[in-house]
Amino acid sequence: MGAIQDLLGPASQQFSQLGLGAQIGVGFAAFLVLSVVLNVLAQTLFKNSNEPPVVFHWFPIIGSTITYGMDPPRFFKEQREKYGDVFTFVLLGRKTTVCLGPAGNDFVLNGKIRDVNAEEIYTVLTTPVFGRDVVYDCPNAKLMEQKKFMKIALTTEAFRQYVPIISDEVTSYFKRTADFKGQSGEVSIPPKMAEITIFTASHALQGKAIREQFDESLAALYHDLDMGFSPINFTFHWAPLPWNNRRDHAQRTVAKLYMDTIKRRRANPEIDAQDMMFHLMNSTYKNGVKVPDHEIAHMMIALLMAGQHSSSSTSSWIMLLLASRPDIMEDLYQEQINALGPDLPPLQYEDLAKLPLHGAIVKETLRLHAPIHSIMRAVKQPLHVPGTKYVIPTSHVLMSAPGVSASDPVFFPNPDLWDPHRWLPDSPNAPTMARAQDEEEEEKIDYGYGLVSKGAASPYLPFGAGRHRCIGEQFANVQLQTIVAEVVRLFKFRNVDGSNKVIGTDYASLFSRPLEPAVIHWERREKA
Ligand code: HEM
Repeated sequence: MGAIQDLLGPASQQFSQLGLGAQIGVGFAAFLVLSVVLNVLAQTLFKNSNEPPVVFHWFPIIGSTITYGMDPPRFFKEQREKYGDVFTFVLLGRKTTVCLGPAGNDFVLNGKIRDVNAEEIYTVLTTPVFGRDVVYDCPNAKLMEQKKFMKIALTTEAFRQYVPIISDEVTSYFKRTADFKGQSGEVSIPPKMAEITIFTASHALQGKAIREQFDESLAALYHDLDMGFSPINFTFHWAPLPWNNRRDHAQRTVAKLYMDTIKRRRANPEIDAQDMMFHLMNSTYKNGVKVPDHEIAHMMIALLMAGQHSSSSTSSWIMLLLASRPDIMEDLYQEQINALGPDLPPLQYEDLAKLPLHGAIVKETLRLHAPIHSIMRAVKQPLHVPGTKYVIPTSHVLMSAPGVSASDPVFFPNPDLWDPHRWLPDSPNAPTMARAQDEEEEEKIDYGYGLVSKGAASPYLPFGAGRHRCIGEQFANVQLQTIVAEVVRLFKFRNVDGSNKVIGTDYASLFSRPLEPAVIHWERREKA
């Protein structure tokens, strides 16, 4: 005791001579060092061999948040090399267990309802944006019914109407937009694709009247809603911060606009209308309750928001990749000439099936640039990971990253090469797993919103799998292929410096997208 006092005596004397600011600084530094030491000791001395290995990290709470957040795919690949397909990392203080590879995708995405839960994770972000009683602000069984209602407006019959609508929106956008005046020019493409996406989706899914309001107030309101989807809101969704206030105001205003429209339509029924709102207005839950107006309004917001980020990011990547490979853009143009004739008649839904390279462009872009890089679930009871000795406790969050298997050389030769032709017959880079190519053979299951493939053995799942699988896949394909076909008819793209380079990815928001500005050079095929 005396020896310690001898040791600490001079130090504590020096400490007391410091000013208050310096004392706080020294105290904080000592606390930091102590917490780092305890954190490292805990990782090295108290390993639980029945739980997945924990990614080494110096600081508690921060854990691997920064390395994960900067580049999630790289983080997953690096940790996979060290720890295998199943490992845990600390993300903002929460132990997050990642399960990779087709088996990992299956384990997380096809998890049983009593084992895993999406709404507990996502509701803090989505409920203030979409509104009450829909998607993740209701029991899962109700979401399954809501997905069934929404899917009714996403049929082949509906897509037949959507293709000309989308085509018109794209061509009229390029006619009226100042950045595309003249014969050639340079433009940062992502903001343009974001506008094209919202115009095409709102017109097709929500009708002409709603679409017209996107030229006025709605675009700004949806932008404010969008701000609610920032990662910081996983923690501060409740805080009276300026962007959260704007989010709440926008949610109330947009919902009221839809509810007023519903009231008007109920007063003057349109017999031939077959749009999303019409279908939702005529839907009844299994318990006999008609879908209330506020739920219809909130589902309309949810659908548009769900599609916006993913389709806008994907179409931006497609345009940037085409600019990096003008030869493939020419292949697309030739495909249309060969399949539809040299006069290129107005595009119809049936034409899309005659344009396999257009389909492959979308598929291959989603393989390398799926907008949703991490899918999360709460763990409801201790989960044994098949084929391992690991049990994941309920204190962990479960994470799936299907992008990892989609860029694994085991399944995709030359995985980092953007090669749309790999999805067409006789390609040397064809997916090596037959099942990756042929979803038709997949085991199908109905969670309450129609048959979907389980995707259990597929390394390629950009639209997810299981009960939370995307219902917008076909719409997104129709929308993206139509946009690509119209752009290819109008323009030739290349990189400004003529290289094959492709810009990096921005992971700062919840959905990955190209870094901006992402400038391409465009040239009209015909004289303006
Ligand atoms: C769910 C991807 C477009 C509506 C999902 C999920 C993924 C995904 C990965 C699963 C999320 C999870 O398991 O937690 C994509 C991609 C798109 C796209 C890559 C475009 C390229 C759309 C569009 C719509 C839409 C256009 C609407 C028309 C939905 C809905 C869900 C969903 C309603 C269900 C959420 C749930 O059940 O929890 N999407 N999506 N998506 N998506 Fe999409």
